[in-house]
Amino acid sequence: MKKVIAVVGCGRIAQSAHFPAFAQMDEVRVKYACDLIVSKAEAMKEKYPDKVENVITDYMVALADPEVEAVFVLTPNFAHYTVTMDALKAGKHVFCEKPITVNYKLSLEMAKEAEKQGKMLNIGVCNRYHKSVEKLEEMCREGKFGNLYHVYCSFRSFRSIPGLGGPFTDKKQSGGGVLIDWGVHFFDLILYILGNAKVKNLTCDAYSEMAKDMKAYKYRSMWAEDTADTEHGVNDVDDFITGYVRTDKASISFNGAWAQNIDKEEMFIDFLGDKGGARLNYGGFFSFTDGSTLQTETPEYDIPNMYLLEDKAFIESISTGVKNKGNVENVLETAKLLDALYASAASRKEIVL
Ligand SMILES: NC(=O)c1ccc[n+]([C@@H]2O[C@H](COP(=O)([O-])OP(=O)(O)OC[C@H]3O[C@@H](n4cnc5c(N)ncnc54)[C@H](O)[C@@H]3O)[C@@H](O)[C@H]2O)c1
Repeated sequence: MKKVIAVVGCGRIAQSAHFPAFAQMDEVRVKYACDLIVSKAEAMKEKYPDKVENVITDYMVALADPEVEAVFVLTPNFAHYTVTMDALKAGKHVFCEKPITVNYKLSLEMAKEAEKQGKMLNIGVCNRYHKSVEKLEEMCREGKFGNLYHVYCSFRSFRSIPGLGGPFTDKKQSGGGVLIDWGVHFFDLILYILGNAKVKNLTCDAYSEMAKDMKAYKYRSMWAEDTADTEHGVNDVDDFITGYVRTDKASISFNGAWAQNIDKEEMFIDFLGDKGGARLNYGGFFSFTDGSTLQTETPEYDIPNMYLLEDKAFIESISTGVKNKGNVENVLETAKLLDALYASAASRKEIVL
């Protein structure tokens, strides 16, 4: 039997990842496409006429419909909490995009509500469904790295602040800048590959240097340009972040930049073990160096669509009642880590968890 879903938020990630996935999923009916801006929901119905049944602007309409079993929350970060809590209280399962929401306290409340209602709450940790990440997690479990003692990651780009002055750069709406927007993916997959590592203590510095004068900010292209508001908007979030994290497994050092005056993009994670090491090119393949043979190999394999896999896995989990790796319970440690990193940066002190 097909699962009946509603989609709240028909913006970029909905258009580029989830609606194309739903179009390939015979197991779902999209009874409602909802967006405050009706033209965005209508565009999805026009593009997928055989899949999208109704267009609405008020998600409460979908929550009141007993046929709807699950809701996909694809709104900006600040709205994740309200829409998810309303949906859970209405007895719906929820898939909510990353990050869980703007801080750990509210994230925990969302997880507790899901538990209380006996409903699934999955988070859009799409990288956990990326083939390279799955393979590295398996290699780590099998001991291919030996003692995996340190992870270094870099998520740095040239002048790439998204939607300057819009929801991405307003801390009240986003929860933060490059750390919560890009870092959430990197840290989530690192903690996952390490075998659900738990954070012990950390230190962090955050900077907002590159667009202090928003009107003078220069860039080649701007992601989410349609939401930018350099005239009246706010930019109070980190565009550069650096720090050090100790976990019960490996330690982690990192640098992240939405924007920097270095015309390079560096998106990779190094896993350092005494038997072997790997560099994962974010979103792509990894190379593994075996310390005993001194050979480096880059395994090749198909990289299926991770968004399709995560959406399918969520629908399967509500059918079977079995929680999977995208369940909020497995993602809370990442939210706790991000919160503590921001607290460390604000206080300029080490934080012990
Ligand atoms: N997993 C990933 O790789 C990935 C990539 C990009 C974005 N995201 C996440 O997806 C979320 C959305 O990002 P985006 O870039 O698509 O943003 P967006 O601004 O393009 O789209 C969000 C949409 O939600 C709508 N909306 C807001 N509040 C609403 C409400 N109460 N009811 C109905 N509609 C509402 C807005 O009108 C907008 O159209 C963010 O949380 C972001 O962090 C995840």
